[in-house]
Amino acid sequence: MEPAVQAPSKPRPHELRTLAIDIGGTGIKAVVLSATGKPLTERSRVKTPRPATPGAVINTIVELAKAQGEFDRVSVGFPGVVRRGVTVTAPNLNGNWGGFRLADVLSKKLGVPVRVANDADVQGFGVIAGHGVELVVTLGTGFGSGLFVDGILVPNLELGHHPFQKGKTYEELLGDAVLKKVGKKKWNKRLVRAIRTLDLVFNYDLLYIGGGNAERVTVKLPSNVKIVSNVAGLLGGLALWRD
Ligand code: BGC
Repeated sequence: MEPAVQAPSKPRPHELRTLAIDIGGTGIKAVVLSATGKPLTERSRVKTPRPATPGAVINTIVELAKAQGEFDRVSVGFPGVVRRGVTVTAPNLNGNWGGFRLADVLSKKLGVPVRVANDADVQGFGVIAGHGVELVVTLGTGFGSGLFVDGILVPNLELGHHPFQKGKTYEELLGDAVLKKVGKKKWNKRLVRAIRTLDLVFNYDLLYIGGGNAERVTVKLPSNVKIVSNVAGLLGGLALWRD
């Protein structure tokens, strides 16, 4: 005999819906992805709360999540170093993020499993080919970086904070604040020099440039450098569950 009330069945792997969240210094974005990485909802974006404390950011994500409907798990791209779901640094968010158990706290709030990775690494997962040495940099509020060797991530590369010219770091010379200050022309010139240096140091097969300011790149790029859509910042979220 059929039981009167059927327990809700767990979604099969091919039906799993992943809520992908991208926490940026300026905006927090969300979309639900299918098991094959296709967006199932319209991407939404709200301003990053200021001050961007853990509590304020969590509340914003919970609101965004509600508006995105149903999902079975969550992937978060975080603008700083993350180790096993715990945030270590967050140069462009204020508040005390050192040692914050972001994955656990969010998982309790949303009632589903949560995985967190660096935002540029998530972006990388969304665009790499998976062969050879692939470097991803993101141009936004901060300067993000992700390095992949045959599709495997080299974790915690924080190129943005490496001095590049006259003691100033990539982030200090190419971040959004400085783009607004020096203008597009000078910023593009700097970018050319940065690309040359990165090529000499990493000898990558491909360099991908993403992030909100990638669309401000006006210079002609070498053939092994590609501009990628900022939306990839969300699409890579699926890769965090590939194990
Ligand atoms: C952080 C990186 C992050 C990047 C882009 C930098 O300031 O150190 O971890 O990927 O900003 O958000």
